[in-house]
Amino acid sequence: MRRVDVVTMDKIVSLCKRRGFVFPSSEIYGGLGSSYDYGHYGVLLKNNVKDQWWRAMLRERDDIVALDSAIIQHPETWRASGHVASFTDPLVDCRTCKLRFRADKLEDAQCGRKPSKHPGETPECDLTEARDFNLLFETTIGPVKDEGSVAFLRPETAQGIFLNFRHYLQFARKKPPFGIAQIGKSFRNEITTGNFIFRTREFEQMEMEYFVPPAEAEKWFTHWLDERRGWYLKLGIRDDHLRLRPHDHEELSHYSSATSDVEYLFPIGWQELEGIANRGDFDLTQHAKHSGQKLEYVDTASGERYIPHVIEPAAGVDRCVLAFLADAYEEDEIEGEQRTVLRLHPLLAPVKVAVLPLVRRDGQPELAREAYEQLRGHVQAEYDEGGAIGRRYRRQDEIGTPWAVTIDGQSLEDRTVTLRDRDSLKQVRLPIDGLGEELARRLREPWQSPKQD
Ligand code: GAP
Repeated sequence: MRRVDVVTMDKIVSLCKRRGFVFPSSEIYGGLGSSYDYGHYGVLLKNNVKDQWWRAMLRERDDIVALDSAIIQHPETWRASGHVASFTDPLVDCRTCKLRFRADKLEDAQCGRKPSKHPGETPECDLTEARDFNLLFETTIGPVKDEGSVAFLRPETAQGIFLNFRHYLQFARKKPPFGIAQIGKSFRNEITTGNFIFRTREFEQMEMEYFVPPAEAEKWFTHWLDERRGWYLKLGIRDDHLRLRPHDHEELSHYSSATSDVEYLFPIGWQELEGIANRGDFDLTQHAKHSGQKLEYVDTASGERYIPHVIEPAAGVDRCVLAFLADAYEEDEIEGEQRTVLRLHPLLAPVKVAVLPLVRRDGQPELAREAYEQLRGHVQAEYDEGGAIGRRYRRQDEIGTPWAVTIDGQSLEDRTVTLRDRDSLKQVRLPIDGLGEELARRLREPWQSPKQD
């Protein structure tokens, strides 16, 4: 087998469309810039990423609880959080091509007249001075469009957690250190988007706010750097494609005293996947000030009271999906035939097993259906009887299905099947009965990307 690591963003975009992972949104109306819809396999993959995050937060630990807060919150939330005043990017307009660019990212953008160059590089470029542009998405509540009804679509899920903090003290009787986790949509009126689902105006976040006694903040910051890096590695991301990068002082957000990004080596270079920030007591203090409510922890036995500090791992679901796809994408050649394969961790693969009768006669489809019914009780399975067996294998390879079960003539005699492995291409013969348990066992095993060697 000859393997070629040739992943590019264009190849991922094309595979995603061809195989029904992600489509450009509103395509029949000409599309809507930087907006995407997830198709069947995209939904399954995205759900698997989110499931693995919930699993790491809720099932593998007992100090974190879940939340699902509203997208539209009281507008005062965003004044208290600093987003109304400071959630801005510096923006320049080009008077010639009428496009807008982020002043701090001109080198990454394309000139509207000569897309081979950066804005400002050609004589025709006529850029305005930079001015701050607020990224909050404004909307109005109720039928009357006046100033009193202005609200915002949340730009991060984090603030919903701070607004609910005291419920968790009262009802869940939580004592720091403890965390509140949530996954949900966020919205930002980004100036420059592009690079597929890497930066969009509507996206999903997986955020957890970990509340700690102030003296323990540094210890927990380090803890969460290790935990989050480990999560990506456990799910198969290659070690040499992942790094932690601490922010310089000038780069820190208005709320943060220390931040490190988990970065992935995308086809477009090293880029942020997740930010891990020490937010101190900024948010609870601000919301206490703006709401007039006390947001602090009080130990009823000792009388000790303090405003907890917060460590926040904040990841983007769509960006994770893109990183897992980029890390998995490979083209290889088997006996002179090209194939594209997604070497996804089996836990992330949209479909775990495909059941394929070798031919569409002689009772094979019936037995294959029986095997399929058994398997789908255990894992996400797919039945496919159309076309040559080689073409059916290639299709499953392209969507990252780790195992294929083939029913052949021998299966009808002894109720055994072949189980084909996507990565090694090895086939083993196994009894039909107990196949579901066998795959469930294989799914629990540690996994390493074959691209790692
Ligand atoms: N609560 C902190 C916070 O929101 P952030 O670094 O702005 O921090 C966290 O966002 C993560 O959300 C990023 O690391 C990225 O993965 C994802 N993200 C942010 N903006 C995004 C966008 N416009 N499109 C897709 N994902 C985005």
